[in-house]
Amino acid sequence: MPTKNTTSNLHDAKKNKNDEFYTQLADIENELRHYKEHFQGKTVYCNCDDPRISNFFHYFSYNFQHLGLKKLITTCYKNQQRDLFSQHDCEQAIMLEYDGFREGDRIPNADDIGITHLQGDGDFRSEECIELLKQADIVVTNPPFSLFREYVAQLVEYDKKFLIIGHQNAITYKEIFPLIKDNRLWLGFGFRGGAAHFMSNYEDYATATDRKEGMIRVSGVVWFTNLEHKKRNEELILYKQYTPKDYPTYDNYNAIEVGKTAEIPMDYDGVMGVPITFLDKYNPDQFEVLGATESEGKGFAKGIWLVESGISQAVVKDKRVYKRIFIRNKNPEKV
Ligand SMILES: C[S@@+](CC[C@H](N)C(=O)[O-])C[C@H]1O[C@@H](n2cnc3c(N)ncnc32)[C@H](O)[C@@H]1O
Repeated sequence: MPTKNTTSNLHDAKKNKNDEFYTQLADIENELRHYKEHFQGKTVYCNCDDPRISNFFHYFSYNFQHLGLKKLITTCYKNQQRDLFSQHDCEQAIMLEYDGFREGDRIPNADDIGITHLQGDGDFRSEECIELLKQADIVVTNPPFSLFREYVAQLVEYDKKFLIIGHQNAITYKEIFPLIKDNRLWLGFGFRGGAAHFMSNYEDYATATDRKEGMIRVSGVVWFTNLEHKKRNEELILYKQYTPKDYPTYDNYNAIEVGKTAEIPMDYDGVMGVPITFLDKYNPDQFEVLGATESEGKGFAKGIWLVESGISQAVVKDKRVYKRIFIRNKNPEKV
């Protein structure tokens, strides 16, 4: 039986292995095509990316002129080897700065452009990476899942625009949810079917039909951003009418339960609890995000919770339901 320490080492190894998922070019292209207008004259920084293997680097170097970029900076973490799966075996990392120069029509690769060495290990929190961050207008990458809270906090601290991949579970992190509520962070266009395949040497447990050689399928992955995009301005078409029978009030929250985003009643002007996947359809002109269930963080429910119930997870007719976000329709129909 493993000792406590071995168990926690195994846990750390697994956790860090989850950080070594590499993004496919097609997924980057699919998302980035919705944001072209934001990139003109901008410096882009990919700060969790080895330019020799990262598809974020490939995407931006290839589309440098098309997007009208000013500069592209990429840095990686603890890695010198040209190996897709970072071993983190080097205390000095590499970086690359590209200003768009190319001979003829040929798009240069990372080696042609010239890789330089960082003084340190390339940790996004290190002083030299923060200096590079200060130069950047927009940060675009898939950061390590295990450091997601710190990663976003740093972007917010330095007031950067960003487009990054994360897991939808992060929506209700106490460091992330207040940003969503205040409209300082929202979801991007997203992955088809709410799942993505990443290049990985981690064993995949996906079903046979969804299994792809050398890849892992991760469900619930989303793009987080503070860049405006068209989908965020689209109105969700509502067709259901409120009835107390179809939309019962929670036993422990002053709100009605709406189990499916598509079934938000068009004529209800009070507080509604919806699944977190609602955020994929969230248009701030149509709805207001008021809070989330108290089980997600103390004080998240902002007075909607009936404290005396003592139960923080939302309950409907004695049945507990999954994570809920509380919203209000800004312009309910009068029927
Ligand atoms: C989920 S992977 C994605 C890699 C790449 N951005 C991509 O999308 O293909 C996260 C990357 O962050 C790197 N990383 C881990 N800790 C880091 C840190 N403290 N600072 C910067 N990068 C880190 C990992 O080595 C890994 O390559």
